[in-house]
Parts: sequence; structure tokens; C-alpha cells
Amino acid sequence: MNVSEAISKRRSVRSYTSTPIEPEKLELILQAARLSPSARNQQIWKFVVVRKSDTKENLVHACDEHAFLAEADTVVCCCAVKSDLVLPNGEATHTMDLAVAASFMMLQATELGLGSCWIGAFNEAKLKKLLRIPEEIKVVCLISLGYPHFVPPASDRKPLSEIVTIENFAQPHQ
Ligand SMILES: Cc1cc2nc3c(=O)[nH]c(=O)nc-3n(C[C@H](O)[C@H](O)[C@H](O)COP(=O)(O)O)c2cc1C
Repeated sequence: MNVSEAISKRRSVRSYTSTPIEPEKLELILQAARLSPSARNQQIWKFVVVRKSDTKENLVHACDEHAFLAEADTVVCCCAVKSDLVLPNGEATHTMDLAVAASFMMLQATELGLGSCWIGAFNEAKLKKLLRIPEEIKVVCLISLGYPHFVPPASDRKPLSEIVTIENFAQPHQ
């Protein structure tokens, strides 16, 4: 599968089989995060890999009762160990860095025949307690991973004509 295929085939998978992810596949997914770009190449990330059933069951309660987290073979909690680098436009880079890494992981998972889902709905305090994440660390997102039980159809996207302009903000894309 090439990158274009992975981009178009990826879905948010919220239902998983009990088939375990092979260790070499999980390694490739984590390598995808490691190889992703980050602001000033600071790599201010830490990825907490959760595979134990009882921890995943507790994750459900820290994540807005997303029951499928207990079904997923693996849940990766994507954390920023530093959050003080700010771009000239005033935006902090840590969420961007982790979002890029999470995206790379999801695309790598797709190529390997695995499903994934981004989880942004979590209670950070509960999560930190459960996973023993220090107070000063920021949790950006979680990514569930596993063999899909059900792959949803593609969800709607706006057409390029609605989201792209040419040369300036006003010039429509034909
Ligand atoms: C920043 C962000 C936060 C998200 N949070 C959640 C979430 O908490 N729970 C969930 O089930 N999906 C979550 N998603 C997945 C989106 O709902 C999903 O990507 C979107 O509906 C498009 O569907 P698709 O991924 O299948 O193309 C999140 C995605 C992003 C990028």
C-alpha cells in the first residue's frame, strides 16, 4: 500500500477483534511516530503504550466511556514532556508535534491492515493518575490500535472547491 492509499483507506475504527497486534507491527507504528517531524526537531514526546486489559478497561472511564478502548489491542497515550515552545504566531508547538506523530502512526497502522482512532475526549487528571503521568506533562491525545471488527464507510469531506483558494484567500479553486 502506498501513502495515497493509506490516506484514502484510513478510517476511525471504533470496533476491534481480539486478534493481537504482532510485536513487529507495533514497533513499526511506534517508529512512525519517532520518525515524524517536530518543531526544531525537539522531539518533546513520550508515548505510553497500554496493552494490559485492566488498564484499558480503566481507560474507558478516563475517556468519556469510549468502550472500544477496552476492545483495542493497544492504546497509545501521546504526551508532550515540554510545552513552552511557541511559534511567532503565538501557537504552542507541542500539540502540533504530537498531532503529526499521531497521524503518522495512524497511516502506518492502515498500511499494516490495522484500524486506529484518535481520542481527544479524555479527562486528563484521571488519565494521569491511571498511567502515572507526572503533573507537568501534557496529554495531547490517545490512539487506539487493533485489527478492525468493522471498518466504517468513508465519512463526508468538503470538496476542494470549498476548502482551497488560489494565490490569495479570496480566489476560488476551480
Ligand atoms: C482532534 C481530534 C479529536 C478526536 N476525538 C475523538 C474522540 O474523542 N472520540 C472519537 O471516537 N473520535 C475522535 N476523533 C475522530 C474523528 O471523529 C474522526 O476523525 C472524524 O469523524 C472523521 O472520520 P474518519 O476519521 O473516519 O475519517 C477525533 C479526531 C481528531 C482529529
